[in-house]
Amino acid sequence: MTSTVPADLSTTDARPDGTGTHRASAMRRDGVRLDGIARAFPAAEGPREVLRGLDLEVPAGEILAVVGPSGCGKSTLLRLVAGLDVPSAGEIRIGGTALRGTDPRTAVAFQEPRLLPWRTLEHNVALGLPRGTARRAGRDRVRHLLQLVGLEHAATQRPREVSGGMAQRASLARALARSPEVLLLDEPFGALDALTRLRMQDLLLEIHAAEPTTVVVVTHDVEEALYLADRVLLLRSLLEDAASTSIARAVEVPGARPRDRADHALAELRVELLAGLGVHTHQGTSSAPTASPTPTETPS
Ligand SMILES: Nc1ncnc2c1ncn2[C@@H]1O[C@H](COP(=O)(O)OP(=O)(O)O)[C@@H](O)[C@H]1O
Ligand SMILES: [Mg+2]
Repeated sequence: MTSTVPADLSTTDARPDGTGTHRASAMRRDGVRLDGIARAFPAAEGPREVLRGLDLEVPAGEILAVVGPSGCGKSTLLRLVAGLDVPSAGEIRIGGTALRGTDPRTAVAFQEPRLLPWRTLEHNVALGLPRGTARRAGRDRVRHLLQLVGLEHAATQRPREVSGGMAQRASLARALARSPEVLLLDEPFGALDALTRLRMQDLLLEIHAAEPTTVVVVTHDVEEALYLADRVLLLRSLLEDAASTSIARAVEVPGARPRDRADHALAELRVELLAGLGVHTHQGTSSAPTASPTPTETPS
């Protein structure tokens, strides 16, 4: 696809005052560290552990994709890192400091855009600005973000007047408004049609190249995970294996981004990850790439 990031935004200090536009890439980035994380929820038969023994280091600037069967605790993990939920055991650190509730250094976006329907897209994006942002700086930041996600011409439209893909781009821009250190995405493109989804994946990579935030993205699409991420974390359902810890595998994805969607090495990893999810492809051990895209392949 063609780039939606205007060329002048991919250089440092594109704006005359040098603020906002590329402030984020000049900043030190924070990674995420999880030590012995567990989360149990009450159930009729007693507390049920959804996550257990989860140790994980996400270095600053990494894109980590999290896959796993439905109900294995992917959203729970993301909510914990977002500080929207508290672990039953273990500790989460962002940039070396222990997490205590929601943190201004993190931002979250979900499968549904969750925009305020009565507000314009630019107002919705502005809702993500840090508290106390000066008016002018806020306006500039929102304008920059709308450009970044290719919505500058839809700034004054309301969510119902735009497509699902546009609304999701506005949601992404809102999450980016505070220049988060850590961007948490829960199946962010899951509700979009296959083509829009591919475009959004490229947009996310362009945004990450321009503002290299640490990203944790939950997806049920193994191809999406392999296209986007430096590493793919495969979680297991503790319901099926009550004695084990949550991480089934962590797979390094070879090659630099942007990746070739038809890459043979990725096709092999895809087969491996799908097997880890209990889906056995006809390819078996063959390395031939299969048709793309196949948005939903994991059981849910
Ligand atoms: N607040 C909660 N109270 C009780 N059970 C919950 C709560 N949140 C999640 N769960 C349970 O934890 C399990 C994992 O949920 P979730 O993290 O949403 O899975 P995933 O995102 O991997 O599909 C599910 O069985 C779900 O019902
Ligand atoms: Mg979920």
